[in-house]
Amino acid sequence: METMNEPNKSWHSQERLKILERAVQSARNGIVITDPKLPDNPIVYANPAFSELTGYSQAEIVGHNCRFLQGADCNQSEIAEVRSAIAEGRSLMTILRNYRKDGTLFWNELSIAPVHDDEGTVINFIGVQNDITARKESDRRVSEFYSMVSHELRTPLSSVRASLGLIDEGSAGDIPSGAKRLVTIALQNAERLLKLVDDILDFKKMETGNLDLNTAIVEPDIIVTSVLSSLSQLAANADIQVIKQINTRKSLCADSDRILQVLINLIANAIKFSPRGSRITVAVKDVGKSMHFAVTDEGPGIAEKDKEKLFLKFHQLDSSDTRPKPGSGLGLAISKTIVELHGGTIGVDSAVGNGSTFWFILPLVPKS
Ligand SMILES: Cc1cc2nc3c(=O)[nH]c(=O)nc-3n(C[C@H](O)[C@H](O)[C@H](O)COP(=O)(O)O)c2cc1C
Repeated sequence: METMNEPNKSWHSQERLKILERAVQSARNGIVITDPKLPDNPIVYANPAFSELTGYSQAEIVGHNCRFLQGADCNQSEIAEVRSAIAEGRSLMTILRNYRKDGTLFWNELSIAPVHDDEGTVINFIGVQNDITARKESDRRVSEFYSMVSHELRTPLSSVRASLGLIDEGSAGDIPSGAKRLVTIALQNAERLLKLVDDILDFKKMETGNLDLNTAIVEPDIIVTSVLSSLSQLAANADIQVIKQINTRKSLCADSDRILQVLINLIANAIKFSPRGSRITVAVKDVGKSMHFAVTDEGPGIAEKDKEKLFLKFHQLDSSDTRPKPGSGLGLAISKTIVELHGGTIGVDSAVGNGSTFWFILPLVPKS
């Protein structure tokens, strides 16, 4: 097949030019070409999609610098980046607030690139405009939804869980044995829901880069003991023995709540996937300047092909013999982010039929 790079064959340069022009004319993105050799780098070509996007006619566009799309909103920091890229003759992608002829705002994902002649001199710039207003709007709605979830759902849910907890432990007086079982089930489900809401909120923080660490000196033994006590009921219900092996006297500088969260995720997962009557070992040891945490179970193990997917968001492996287990599928993705924020690494060693060891390694002092 002949390509556009083989002009000597049946492709005449006229024909190629015609095709190139038609392609640019038909593109759904705005495309402009400017001439930096002329004063103020004016537009010398704009395709129909650019007119459609901005509402300006060809006569109003050609001969003008693209900045007319900024209206009075010309103090955006991204505009300075565009100016430097043009001055240095390099390409750039950025997002600008632009305004149509009728004054309505649109978010312009703009990419510009220099066009060189045979000597390497910049003779033109090409700009491609992508209207991402709909995407921005849906991001805003999602953000609003998260803050609605956090306020409208989490607060009453916490109070339901706290009240059920008090009833369950007998603080509100004796409850008939038939009702006790129901209260315990309601409490467990309220806890599950709250965990799901917390996972979603953490995940959102993670995506927007707002998951911050509050670091202090942490004793591994204290953390592991606290995690095991909070999971003791879950382990007992699943008839699983959880064994603690602390082989360190060192402490580390970390966010104890977040490390607790990682351990809870790993151990709760291990409990979820382990057969009744089996054992889980939680081991901690120091090696050089880092602390190694490992959660080993006697569960079904994980196939090689599934290992890399494990730490992806919303991921749960199919388990051949059981129904999908409850959970948001976010726990491991969140754990990975927490460990990496500390400058550590997380992973799994496992073979099908031989159980799994989920481990993470944290530096004794996180990198700043
Ligand atoms: C090829 C090309 C396309 C451009 N497209 C746009 C655009 O769509 N919207 C916009 O606000 N600015 C666009 N600009 C940037 C402006 O033309 C101008 O370079 C920018 O406002 C910085 O320069 P100034 O500080 O002199 O205004 C484009 C620039 C080039 C070279």
